[in-house]
Amino acid sequence: MKAIVYRRYGPPDVLEYKEIDNPTPADDQVLVKVRAASVNPLDGLVRGKPHLVRLATGLRRPKDPRLGRDVAGQVESVGRNVTQFKPGDEVFGGTAGAFAEYVAVRENGPVVLKPPNLTLEQAASVPIAAVTALQALRNRGKVQPGQKVLINGASGGVGTFAVQIAKSFGAEVTGVCSTRNVEMVRSIGADHVIDYTKEDFTKNGQRYDLMLDNVGNRSLSECRSVLNPKGKYVMIGGESGRWLDPLPRMVAARVMARFVSQEMGMMLAQVKKEDLTTLADLMQSGKVTPVIDRGYRLSEVPAAIRYLEQGHARGKVVISLE
Ligand SMILES: NC(=O)c1ccc[n+]([C@@H]2O[C@H](COP(=O)([O-])OP(=O)(O)OC[C@H]3O[C@@H](n4cnc5c(N)ncnc54)[C@H](OP(=O)(O)O)[C@@H]3O)[C@@H](O)[C@H]2O)c1
Repeated sequence: MKAIVYRRYGPPDVLEYKEIDNPTPADDQVLVKVRAASVNPLDGLVRGKPHLVRLATGLRRPKDPRLGRDVAGQVESVGRNVTQFKPGDEVFGGTAGAFAEYVAVRENGPVVLKPPNLTLEQAASVPIAAVTALQALRNRGKVQPGQKVLINGASGGVGTFAVQIAKSFGAEVTGVCSTRNVEMVRSIGADHVIDYTKEDFTKNGQRYDLMLDNVGNRSLSECRSVLNPKGKYVMIGGESGRWLDPLPRMVAARVMARFVSQEMGMMLAQVKKEDLTTLADLMQSGKVTPVIDRGYRLSEVPAAIRYLEQGHARGKVVISLE
């Protein structure tokens, strides 16, 4: 099968579009013919930065040459112990090596049936970004109906899901983005939109019960200053550096949390089957609709990653294998 692989760390140009062996599904796995995948900042791991991540991905060179996490496609065959899926089912989920023509996924792993009202590209855009938004709002933020939620970075992959999921929980949502995305963020349900090129959200006197931070471009003190006394700050993303970032900011948030009345902390999303099921229900009922920025072919994954790395994607960037 064709796949995107990397044998050394470096810019996206080190990625190769190659013929590799098809995965062989184990007895508890389904073999999925990939029809679409999506790109996440996580795929920037091809650079092996920050260097700390190499403890997990391989010190000198990548331990696993495959790349990509988010996938949607059609079940091609199933292992003999599989009962939840059958050949022909359209599914989406999270797995290693999504930038390939086939993936093998455990049936009890993070894979679920695709809602019929979604395209495969839309379904592929969901796993990491939408699960991150869901876990940040529900698990870390414990968002309640009527609460005021601020989403810094409302127009990207995580942000566009966060706006819609927060609205589905009954929150009053304020999104922060640049001028060209103001209308889009409003159109997906934000009650208020702050254009960061014209207004500083830390200086307009507004206070929030929860702030999701997809950008990490403001100091922790500035972020705390927009929270109510019992408010929560959930750090999702941040600028990535050479060695440790965003570790120092995470540590600083934990230290600060000991001395202030607000909750300050970061989260690390884990794509789980039950959360994908929750999201499938939200999408089937029309409460959440993925926002797709643009599409690339499998051979164009390096270009897709370079585009995402510019930091101004509008919704999700997808890879289409049609
Ligand atoms: N903790 C976790 O488990 C987890 C999981 C997933 C992702 N992440 C991290 O979360 C972050 C966001 O991920 P993503 O997939 O949403 O990335 P993304 O799609 O690349 O985000 C791009 C968006 O960021 C916005 N943006 C850039 N600068 C901004 C600023 N100064 N103020 C407000 N918005 C700004 C852009 O809006 P404009 O074009 O309008 O500027 C653009 O729409 C990344 O750092 C990623 O690594 C963490």
